[in-house]
Amino acid sequence: MKVPFYCMRPRVLSGVQPSGNLHIGNYLGALKNWARIQYDYESFFCIVDLHAITVYQDPGELRAKIRETAGVFIAAGIDPKHSAVFVQSSVPGHVELSWMLTCVTPVGWLERMTQYKDKAAKQESVGDGLLQYPVLMAADILLYQAALVPVGEDQAQHLELTRDIAQRFNSLYGETFVMPATGLPAVGARVMGLDDPTRKMSKSETGAGHAVALLDPPAVIRKKIMRATTDSNPAVNVANAGPGVLNLLGIHQAFTGWGDEAMKAHFEGMRYGDLKKEVAEAVATGLEPLQRRYREITSEPGYLDGILRESAERANAVANTTVRTVKERMGLYAAP
Ligand code: TYM
Repeated sequence: MKVPFYCMRPRVLSGVQPSGNLHIGNYLGALKNWARIQYDYESFFCIVDLHAITVYQDPGELRAKIRETAGVFIAAGIDPKHSAVFVQSSVPGHVELSWMLTCVTPVGWLERMTQYKDKAAKQESVGDGLLQYPVLMAADILLYQAALVPVGEDQAQHLELTRDIAQRFNSLYGETFVMPATGLPAVGARVMGLDDPTRKMSKSETGAGHAVALLDPPAVIRKKIMRATTDSNPAVNVANAGPGVLNLLGIHQAFTGWGDEAMKAHFEGMRYGDLKKEVAEAVATGLEPLQRRYREITSEPGYLDGILRESAERANAVANTTVRTVKERMGLYAAP
């Protein structure tokens, strides 16, 4: 891949919406991977508050969730000394570039997005922001000339669209954007709901037994996993496991890092009650350091705000360079 001269080394960018409680799907699909790869790149991790408002958010709750999400990023292992942890709306370039990209994006491309179709089907009146959502996401990525975007599987279609938009821009205005690759984790790319393993675990689902939140106390984690939906078989049969059992095995494997052989040797024939106990233990133990770190971070006054401020400065410096280049390419006025 050709990296333009202004990229000193490859960049990585990803983001999470500060809507609802972050759950183990967000952790296994995204955050855990970010923490692992961050030092190989110049890293940018964004709390995408402008995306969150594409559906109504209570302002007070949103404000609190932005801080909570930033705290969880760092608690999950994002090192703010190395990686920028910043809020999307504190970098105006996201909205500027989003508009410029909107102007090269056919509306048909946006209407085909499955997340748009799903969300729009649930609303009486569909806001324009919901349709524009993936263009803003493309702007998030292209603004930083990100070479890699580590996400869960549900974002793969948005990443394809980002590449299509970048290609269209490059062919209209000349080589400008790096083509971002999609980085899916080997395990945990699509964690399913505990209550209904045919549906993706989601922040917007409010059912008590649907998701394990990253900040759930261990007793709550155990209770939720012990109640997870399995099937009518009594014990694990790896070759013929239903979606509920496969989901539990996948969660265990993603938390422990065990290989396929070790998983099969350990769980084959195990009764579901015992399987659930082991999964609950792996999750509670796996989240313990994150939860401890989160408590430390949030008890230090001013710590998070300092990081968000400094990171926004770093992000703005990169963003402004890209916005200037794009303006020049498009013939817009860029003050000398
Ligand atoms: P969001 O906030 O829904 O989810 C954040 C990240 O978590 C992943 N994820 C999952 N992974 C595995 N299993 C699940 N059940 C699961 N649920 C969520 C998501 O794939 C994502 O990586 N549109 C994005 C936010 C965004 C973004 C960006 C991401 C905005 N701009 C630029 C990357 C780059 C979203 O709504 O993620």
